[in-house]
Amino acid sequence: MRHIYQQGSDVTAPVLVLFHGTGGTENDLLPLAQAISPTSSVLSVRGNVLENGMPRFFRRLAEGIFDEEDLIFRTKEVYDFINEAATEHGFDRSNVVAIGYSNGANIAGSLLFHYPNALRAAILHHPMVPRRGITLPDLSDTPVFIGAGKNDPICSPEESEELERLLSDAGSDVHVHWENSGHQLTRSEVFAAAEWLKGLS
Ligand code: MLT
Repeated sequence: MRHIYQQGSDVTAPVLVLFHGTGGTENDLLPLAQAISPTSSVLSVRGNVLENGMPRFFRRLAEGIFDEEDLIFRTKEVYDFINEAATEHGFDRSNVVAIGYSNGANIAGSLLFHYPNALRAAILHHPMVPRRGITLPDLSDTPVFIGAGKNDPICSPEESEELERLLSDAGSDVHVHWENSGHQLTRSEVFAAAEWLKGLS
C-alpha cells in the first residue's frame, strides 16, 4: 500500500499507524501524530480504493452504507500490510496504536472487529459501527479512544454510543470524548486523545 514511514526518536513509544478520511492522503494526519506522540515512529497509509478519484479504505454503496464484502477484504489487506511493514521497517508489531479519522477510523475499527491483537490501542476520530452481527475478538487488552461530535450528521451520537457498547462488551476499556461540533476533527479532541494515550502505559 502507498505509505510514509517515519522512524521516531523513541523506539519504545507506541508506533502510530495513521488512516486518513475519504479524499485524504497519507500526508493528512502527520501533524496529528506529531501532536499526539512526537517521539513515535509513524506509518501513514493511503487507502487503496478510489471513489470518484478520492482515496478511501473500502468501498461503500452510499453514505454510511458499507460494501461489507469489500470491507472484509480491505481489512485483511490493511492487517497484512501492517504485519509486512513491521518486518520491513523493524518496528514493534505488538506496540501499534491506530489513529484514524472518519473513513480511516472505520477501517481501524474494522481491524478491531476482525483480528485479535491487531492493535495495542486505537484512537478513533468520528467512527461508525463498521459491521453488525458478528462476534468481536477479546479486546480486554485493547483500550479505545472515541472522539465524537454531538452534532455529527455522519456518525450520529447514537451510533457512537452503539460502537462504545460493542467494544466494551468485547472487553475494551473505551473512553468517549464528546465535542459539541459536527464531523470535523477539532484541536481539543486531538489534545484529549494525546492526554489519553499518555495515560495508557
Ligand atoms: C465512511 O464511508 O467510512 C463514512 O461514511 C465516513 C466517510 O464519509 O468517509
